[in-house]
This record gives sequence, C-alpha cells and structure tokens, in this order.
Amino acid sequence: MLFKGKKRLNAGIIGGAGYGGAELAKLLLFHPRVHLTFVTSRRYAGKQISSVNRFLTKVTDLCFIEPDIEALPLDTDVLFLATPHGISMKLMPDIVKVLPRAKVIDLSGDFRLKNPHIYRQYYDTEHTATDLLGRFVYGLTELNRENIRSAQYVANPGCFATGIILALMPLFSCDAVRREVSVVSVTGSSGAGEMHKEVTHHPVRAQNFKSYKILEHQHTPEIEQFFKDRFRNWDYEIGFVPQSGPFVRGIFTTAMAYNEAIHTDTLKATLEQLYKAERFIRVVNGSPEINAVQGSNYVEVSGMVKRNFVISMSAIDNLVRGASGQAVQNMNIMFGFEEHEGLEFPGMRP
Ligand SMILES: NC(=O)c1ccc[n+]([C@@H]2O[C@H](COP(=O)([O-])OP(=O)(O)OC[C@H]3O[C@@H](n4cnc5c(N)ncnc54)[C@H](OP(=O)(O)O)[C@@H]3O)[C@@H](O)[C@H]2O)c1
Repeated sequence: MLFKGKKRLNAGIIGGAGYGGAELAKLLLFHPRVHLTFVTSRRYAGKQISSVNRFLTKVTDLCFIEPDIEALPLDTDVLFLATPHGISMKLMPDIVKVLPRAKVIDLSGDFRLKNPHIYRQYYDTEHTATDLLGRFVYGLTELNRENIRSAQYVANPGCFATGIILALMPLFSCDAVRREVSVVSVTGSSGAGEMHKEVTHHPVRAQNFKSYKILEHQHTPEIEQFFKDRFRNWDYEIGFVPQSGPFVRGIFTTAMAYNEAIHTDTLKATLEQLYKAERFIRVVNGSPEINAVQGSNYVEVSGMVKRNFVISMSAIDNLVRGASGQAVQNMNIMFGFEEHEGLEFPGMRP
C-alpha cells in the first residue's frame, strides 16, 4: 500500500479558492493522517490561503500556488480536483504522466458519466479524455465501497446525486417504484460555487424560491447510471426537479412514488437494513433536517408510506457530504484508513 511506512499522506488540492476546495482544505488540515502540502489558485497564487479563506487564519500559513501540473511535488500521494467541470478532463492526462502513482479524487462532473455522448448532452462540451473514463470509480461511498477501495481514481458524486441516490436506494431496494418516481431537491446558494452570479446574488436569492433545469439537470443521468449498474434490468423514469432555496448550505430531497402494495414497515425495514450500520447515515423518523447535518458529513434519511404514496427524504450538507467530506471519506477507504477518520465532528444546533 502506498501509505505503508509513512506517517502522513502528502495531499494537494487543485482549485482551493472555491467553496468546495476551501472546505476540503479545512478537513485535510485537521486530518490526523494527512499533510496538506499545496493548494492552487490562479487568481491568488503567492497569497496565503487564509487571505481568501479567512476562516483558516491562524490555522495555516500555507500559500496558494499556480495549478501547474509539471511543477507539482512528485511525492504527492493524493490529489483532489475541486475545479469547475471541463477542467479536470484537461488536467488529467498530464497528472497521469507527472504523478503516475498518485491517487486522484475529482469533485467535478467530468469523470462521473461513462458515456461521453451523454456528457456532451448535459455538460454542453465535448469530453477530451475519454480514454480515462473507464479508470474512474464512482465515489458514492456507502454504496460502492468495495470498488473505491481498489481505485486509483475516484469520481466524487454530484451534490444532488448524493442526496438523491441515498434517498432512492431504499425505494428501489424494496421494489416500491412501479415505473416513475418524482424527486424534488432544494439546494442552498453555496451549491453554485464562489463566483458571483445573478442567481446567488443576495438580493435575488435571500427571499426567493424557484425551480430550475426542470427535468434536465446534469445529475439525472449520473443517478440513472448508478442504478443501472446496481440493479439488473433497471428501467425506471426519474423525474427530477431541482429548486433553489433561500439558505446557504444544504440539500433537502423528497422522492415520491405511488404503490398500494408497499407498507411503511417494509420501507422502514429496508432503510434499517441498508443504513443501520453506516456511521454517517442516520435513519430518522419523520422529516430529516438540514440543520442537523449542516457543516458535517452526516446524512439524515427517512421513509414512510401514506395513502399509497411511498416517500423517502434526505438531508445533506452540499459542501461536506455532497463534496469535500465524501471525498475525504473516499480517500480514507482508498488508503486503508478508518472510514470516519478526520470526519467525526457532528453538525450544529440550531
Ligand atoms: N459547491 C458545491 O456544493 C459542490 C458540491 C459538489 C460538487 N461540486 C463540484 O466541485 C467543483 C468545485 O466546486 P466549487 O463550488 O468549489 O467551485 P468554485 O467555488 O467555483 O471554485 C472553483 C475553483 O477552481 C479554480 N479554477 C477555475 N478554473 C480553473 C482552471 N482552469 N484551472 C485550475 N483551477 C481553476 C478556481 O480558482 P482560480 O480561478 O483562482 O484558479 C476556484 O478555486 C465543481 O466541479 C462543482 O461542480 C460543488
């Protein structure tokens, strides 16, 4: 194992001035098995990472460097890519050459979809590293653990996809879906990243609520691909409507199917069976709550059947469980650490 005999892993982040990269830097700085050796930013190269990520002041003196792959430290054990989609697929061919033994965890959507045509359709750009698609393992930790363990490259799931797959898994596992399942997920503004945009501008967002990318969000094919790989002859319709809510962190998902043959007890037993032993998944009665998971890697999931409507719900923090926390959980598995190392802190109250 790569880690054998060494005290700490050398880790680096490409894209550390963004929200996902900043959260990741925090997690890695406090991880007992990791030495965070570099964080990149083109705009802030040479400046302390705390000059942008003020919450890291007096935590680290590390400075941003340029994302020049040729110049990255050759003793890097694990590299996180926290760049917008379209960038990792351009960086990866050089990363493979320059750091052939490093493990890579990509937070973007570039290596999640196995079919480049579907990537083209949903991301509106041609995939330029199709030869590497087969080398990436999908990083929905609890549901793909064994494949992640032996992976060199992991495609971290999308934030919506994480909450939705964890909510839908119990429904498909107990055959609760006949043909269609409708899914609504509400996300906070940090899901759109740190670049200033009209949709995340405070006066526009703070007291607004709306749907967007209705039935055409790019995480839909990712979710379908997961279930097709998981269940033989899986052939269902997922109608996914994303919504933007007036809060900063979190994603709340509600999935609903109609089936008069399923009882609450069956669904609850399935939830228990799937998730009871999982350290980061809490099966709750009634509604999950974003407050209870905010700032943490925990997920709340619940399920119920009422008047033949089969409902499951989930709540996650998009930046931790939906991005950096899950990336660290995957890193822990890839290097043979305890899965919860560096992630054991709970959320907040209120
Ligand atoms: N936000 C979320 O909730 C969330 C959840 C799950 C997954 N993700 C995914 O994670 C990735 C990062 O998301 P984010 O929200 O952190 O984005 P972000 O806030 O927009 O940050 C993107 C980072 O990438 C860097 N960057 C941009 N273009 C680059 C290039 N050509 N080469 C090198 N670095 C570049 C930027 O810094 P410089 O411009 O200074 O280099 C910045 O640090 C995205 O792919 C996103 O879809 C995000």
